Amino acid sequence: MPLKNTNIVSAAQTKFGKLEGVTLREMFAEAVDKATTQAGVPKEDIQAAFIGTFIPEMLVHQGHTAPLLLDYAGMRGLPATRHEAACASGATALRAAIMAIESGLYDTVLVAGAEKMTSVSTNRATEALAAAADDEFESGIGLTFPGVFAIAAVAHMQEYGTTEEDMALVAVKAHKNASTNPLAQFQKEITLEKALTPRYIAWPLKLFDCSPISDGAAALVLTSNEKAKQYTDTPVRIIGTGQASASMNLCDRTVLTSFEASVKASRIAYDMAGLGPKDMDFAVVHDCFTIAEIIATEDLGLFEPGEGARAVREGVTALDGDMPVNPMGGLKAVGHPVGATGVKQAVVVYRELIGEAGPNQVPRHDTAIMHNFGGTGATCVVNIMRRADA
Ligand SMILES: CC(C)(COP(=O)(O)OP(=O)(O)OC[C@H]1O[C@@H](n2cnc3c(N)ncnc32)[C@H](O)[C@@H]1OP(=O)(O)O)[C@@H](O)C(=O)NCCC(=O)NCCS
Repeated sequence: MPLKNTNIVSAAQTKFGKLEGVTLREMFAEAVDKATTQAGVPKEDIQAAFIGTFIPEMLVHQGHTAPLLLDYAGMRGLPATRHEAACASGATALRAAIMAIESGLYDTVLVAGAEKMTSVSTNRATEALAAAADDEFESGIGLTFPGVFAIAAVAHMQEYGTTEEDMALVAVKAHKNASTNPLAQFQKEITLEKALTPRYIAWPLKLFDCSPISDGAAALVLTSNEKAKQYTDTPVRIIGTGQASASMNLCDRTVLTSFEASVKASRIAYDMAGLGPKDMDFAVVHDCFTIAEIIATEDLGLFEPGEGARAVREGVTALDGDMPVNPMGGLKAVGHPVGATGVKQAVVVYRELIGEAGPNQVPRHDTAIMHNFGGTGATCVVNIMRRADA
């Protein structure tokens, strides 16, 4: 049965990038203010807050972020809970909020995510991010996230013939889409030749195959059907949600060309919505590395296994293609402040569905899928959203 009562009525993000001199709490407050006061949703209407942050302890020496951030955003006193699921922290916060509204516990809630990553060196950020892998079997003996996704890339290359050029084309598309997104970290197009420049991070992944280290925050307001019309004429309904987990470490996986939690979470979300991949007008997927986008489009059933790279080559996933993927630029070019990412993905889906994505508007925009995963794909959340009047 589709979810019936959860609507996004406002959505906002800060600029993503290296935001020098801007603190975690300042970014959070800015995103929340844009999604509430500036969007015509009084902060007094919010009854609870669900907040995604991943590793603020290691990046800015700050734990217990939910009450702190909410207080700084001028909403002291509300029930506020932090959700941590590595790079899927934002989407797990969103899912908890969905369940709170569907249960009838609250009418109107805030979902927000934030991360401040650039205050430490790349080495330190890499070490902190590695906490999302299995310390005994992986990160503790030196495996980093570029390394994890390099392993997946090699498996995909061997199994399906995917090439470094295919992955580079994902980066070219991401930078092209981000070039017209003023909130993106990289607002410049790159050529295929540049994307293929061999500054290897973890072979076969090069600099432009990686999402960057970023600062940023994003926020949403969710309400019940009854309240939604108070705030907007174009609510976006969340009609399906799925979450699944998988083994933390890759050595317990039998398949490295697919992430089983993505497959499971998407099937749950499709079943709940009563829809399938062919009903989706566009997709927002977790492209922390270019190979991750190719695999995600296959895991979500948008393309057959092994066909994701061909879809990129043939322009199917471009902004004007039959199945646009990451139309605002994705994690790859917009940035990946880890705790904010899952919330920002919902911001993108919302803006596209209501037709307010400007130069990044996809042509068909009734129904969409968003996919956010954490670590080695050990947590995955998939949501299916549809404009309420579609
Ligand atoms: C790829 C990576 C190692 C590059 O870091 P770095 O070597 O320290 O690079 P720097 O920050 O010194 O930047 C050097 C240049 O490359 C650019 N750059 C950095 N990362 C980039 C990226 N991912 N894509 C494109 N350009 C990038 C910078 O803007 C800078 O350009 P400039 O010289 O024109 O100013 C880093 O971005 C990274 O670790 N990314 C992966 C993050 C990650 O694992 N996230 C979790 C995913 S699960």
